[in-house]
Amino acid sequence: MKQTRRKFLLQSALGISAMPLVVANLRASAAVSSGLAEVFKDDFHLGTAISDATLRSGDSSLLNLIAREFNTITAENAMKWESLQPSENQFSWHLADDFVKFGRKNKMLTIGHTLVWHSQTPEYVFKNKASLASRGILLRRMQNHIGTVIDRYKDSIAIWDVVNEAIEQNKWRRSKWLEIIGEEYFAKAFAFARETDPTAHLIYNDYNMHNPDKQEFIIAQVNKCKKMGIRVDGVGMECHATLDEGPPIVEIETAIVNFAKAGLRVHISELDVDVLPSAWDYQGAEIDVNYEYSEKINPYKNALPSAVSARLAERYRELFELFIKHRDKIARISFWGTTDDESWKNDWPMAGRTNYPLLFDRSRSPKAPYFAIKNLK
Ligand code: XIL
Repeated sequence: MKQTRRKFLLQSALGISAMPLVVANLRASAAVSSGLAEVFKDDFHLGTAISDATLRSGDSSLLNLIAREFNTITAENAMKWESLQPSENQFSWHLADDFVKFGRKNKMLTIGHTLVWHSQTPEYVFKNKASLASRGILLRRMQNHIGTVIDRYKDSIAIWDVVNEAIEQNKWRRSKWLEIIGEEYFAKAFAFARETDPTAHLIYNDYNMHNPDKQEFIIAQVNKCKKMGIRVDGVGMECHATLDEGPPIVEIETAIVNFAKAGLRVHISELDVDVLPSAWDYQGAEIDVNYEYSEKINPYKNALPSAVSARLAERYRELFELFIKHRDKIARISFWGTTDDESWKNDWPMAGRTNYPLLFDRSRSPKAPYFAIKNLK
């Protein structure tokens, strides 16, 4: 039964319509919510990320909002290596278990994020006493981590971000994974995941996916894997977008089309829209230094002006118009958080600003972009 439900959620996310009667009934019973996901149920799954703070506090008003509005969830941090295996072979399941339990309780498509990444991975992983770990040791650690984590959540999680952010434009990102194992680490990670769960849907996830060089490089790696008999099923386009600095809709569209042509299901995996001036020119600067300066890079400390809010709604509208147009290629759209106050965009790429990238405001009310999206249906 457990496996049946998991399979149903996976099939419906992937757009496989033929479903056995028992599964169709399950769908009917799940369709009580009148939130956003319900509105888009014939297009794609719609989801959000749940923070550690929410899992820790068990914040029921936010969790109820999530259960009402969304039908797929990702753990913002709770399933990263540093959270699950902070020291070697000492697994810490507490938060991830709570996350998975919430997904099961609400019949949500639950995403495993992420197994192999250069970031939020403890130092010990790449070390052997004082020196660098050998290739063999690192491969064994990778296999053990992937195997242990997937195995624990097999009954509840059918979609995994197996490798995260391994590629920069047209080349491999320099990382300890690459340095110690070589580029083969990519294929190995997918092979280890596949051997633990042969029917899982396995994803490569990354940002800046509108970049044509990046698309080409990723597709080449996926095809290389295919030749070796290792299947990659989908691609996660993070889609951390901005209000004024792109990416342009047409470039996102080309990416969706190219990935689909390469045989990959598309997941919009971490959607948000940064409304603040680009902070890259101001790196290292202290926001508090002087008022004028602070106003320039953190201009909406008290509220988002209505003109900007309208532009944000319009940006979300055009994004969703595009997603609906390509709904046959897209399995899921996940926002990277629910309410503005919990967004990582308040602190990245510059700490301590007030951002407004999501669909719900700081008092948890739906914002203009929420209605702009809903009104498309
Ligand atoms: C971010 C989280 O939102 C932050 O809380 C954390 O401090 C750093 O990671 N790409 C990813 C996500 O794949 O896991 C990242 O999440 C954002 C960028």
